[in-house]
Amino acid sequence: MSLKNVVKTGVALSGLVLASVLATGSATAGQTLTLAQVSEGFDPARTYTQSCAACHNSGAAGAPRMGNSADWSARLEKGMDVLVEHTINGFNNIMPPKGMCFTCSDDELRAIVQYIIDESVE
Ligand code: HEC
Repeated sequence: MSLKNVVKTGVALSGLVLASVLATGSATAGQTLTLAQVSEGFDPARTYTQSCAACHNSGAAGAPRMGNSADWSARLEKGMDVLVEHTINGFNNIMPPKGMCFTCSDDELRAIVQYIIDESVE
């Protein structure tokens, strides 16, 4: 199974559509659906708003704040790989695993972290 063939429908599937396809089992044998890479149509900004903004906009429970350069510069010193790993597995029992985006692949979570840093670090 090639990871390149994530979506063969020719339709830009959003995470939600993809999730509902998986949930209803309506994908045919001819379709290769996998969450191992960034899906066609994946939008880091939209997924951030859906999954991460509740904590990261306000800084709830000490979450580094979106758009706050100091918050994210300090985190970035650990290196991108560490930040992504902490996003996937959770961190300090307060940052939830996958940031609560359970349909997100590891690469999609990385894309969201990159998006946050691009928007935040000056
Ligand atoms: C329930 C609240 C909550 C949600 C939802 C949440 N986070 Fe967090 N996140 C936190 C908190 C709190 C911290 C700070 C933890 C600490 O430093 O002890 C954090 C830290 C982080 C860090 C820094 C980790 C490090 O090593 O310093 C990254 C990156 C991150 N979150 C990404 C995300 C992404 C991406 C999402 C959405 C997919 C997300 N978070 C959703 C609460 C949340």
